[in-house]
Amino acid sequence: MTHGKTPPTAELKIGDQVYNLPLVEGTRGDKAIDISRLLQKTGYITLDPGFKNTGSCTSAITFLDGKEGILSYRGYDIEDLANNCSFVEVAFLLLHDKLPNEQELESFKGLIERFALIHEDMIHFFDHFPSHTSPMSILSVMVNSLCNYYPEMSGDPLVDFDITSTRLISKIRTIAAFSYKKSMGHPLVYPRSDLSYCGNFLNMMFDKPVRRYIVRPEVVAALNKLLILHADHEQNCSTSTVRLVGSAGVNLYAAIAAGINALWGPLHGGANEAVIDMLETIYADDSNFKKYIEKAKDKNDPFRLSGFGHRVYKTYDPRGKIIKKACDEILRVLEISDPLLDIADRLEEIARKDEYFIERHLYPNVDFYSGIIYPTLGIPK
Ligand code: ACO
Repeated sequence: MTHGKTPPTAELKIGDQVYNLPLVEGTRGDKAIDISRLLQKTGYITLDPGFKNTGSCTSAITFLDGKEGILSYRGYDIEDLANNCSFVEVAFLLLHDKLPNEQELESFKGLIERFALIHEDMIHFFDHFPSHTSPMSILSVMVNSLCNYYPEMSGDPLVDFDITSTRLISKIRTIAAFSYKKSMGHPLVYPRSDLSYCGNFLNMMFDKPVRRYIVRPEVVAALNKLLILHADHEQNCSTSTVRLVGSAGVNLYAAIAAGINALWGPLHGGANEAVIDMLETIYADDSNFKKYIEKAKDKNDPFRLSGFGHRVYKTYDPRGKIIKKACDEILRVLEISDPLLDIADRLEEIARKDEYFIERHLYPNVDFYSGIIYPTLGIPK
């Protein structure tokens, strides 16, 4: 590395030839080598399977330090946001670079409220999925189809982005709730403007003509936390997919639908479902932890401990810690005891003392406890 008045560079020597590559430094001292002109300068490309060492862009949104277990959105610590903000405020922060003032928040909420319905014709789509269809599949189909009903407007691209992204944030909740209602064979419950973002979602999910749903503030608070913790996570698999598909110039709905499909995978967002399957299996197998720990360590066995390990975090995922606390809290408030939480606690304790997991820095990730908290809120697997 060379430093001085000229921007710092790294030297790359290939044979006798030395090339200077610009160094980039992030706001918190994180460092990168800019290889965007490498091929042009040297005739070489880089080989980096899984992009373990590659950032596809610089970002002013999310900072994460996988060694220290730090995550922040636009400079605000994730725990601070999860404990003190609404999901709508955090969504505004991610989109607009700052937390909203009172007026901005009211106007953003107003737009979310205005966009909450989906075109009535789209409701017929739900009738044509087989009953066992995965909600992720329904979500991606519905989001992909939104462009036919709500084309991005053709004026200022920045205004269009604002409108389309706000539409998505609003409608995705209605789609998810309608998909659940259809799967239950229950009548749909429409969005209400007197409820908060999370309260509205829960009401659309659980209100029934025969039994009114009481929106409990503790449940709203837990869901709010979950949405904040999942609002952004740098250049992960689904975000990279959205960016890649979007780079072809498709509409935002199509790019997001592609991201939903990436998120579906059991190694990514689908891990929380896999965690529940795994905990249920262990529970049904007389809590035979040893057997499953050994299976996870066996290289000839494809079984992995779901909810353990992370591409970036080599310590406890900070989101996992917050969810675990929220999980304990909500179970206490609702006076529910969940045997799966005990299984999860015990499994974590055993794995974290095991050399295999210690050596490889495998800790619980965000999905380890999130799989447990959703059913507690009434949201089934
Ligand atoms: N159980 C057992 N062994 C594991 C696990 C696990 N959950 N995770 C990683 N390992 C082992 C690997 O076998 C490998 O061992 P080796 O060095 O002896 O070959 C080593 O740890 C490193 O694993 P990699 O797969 O190289 O780690 P990578 O960073 O590529 O993978 C991943 C990260 C995909 C998340 C992985 O840890 C995993 O499969 N975890 C289970 C699925 C999961 O929980 N995904 C959710 C992630 S959070 C999210 O996406 C929202």
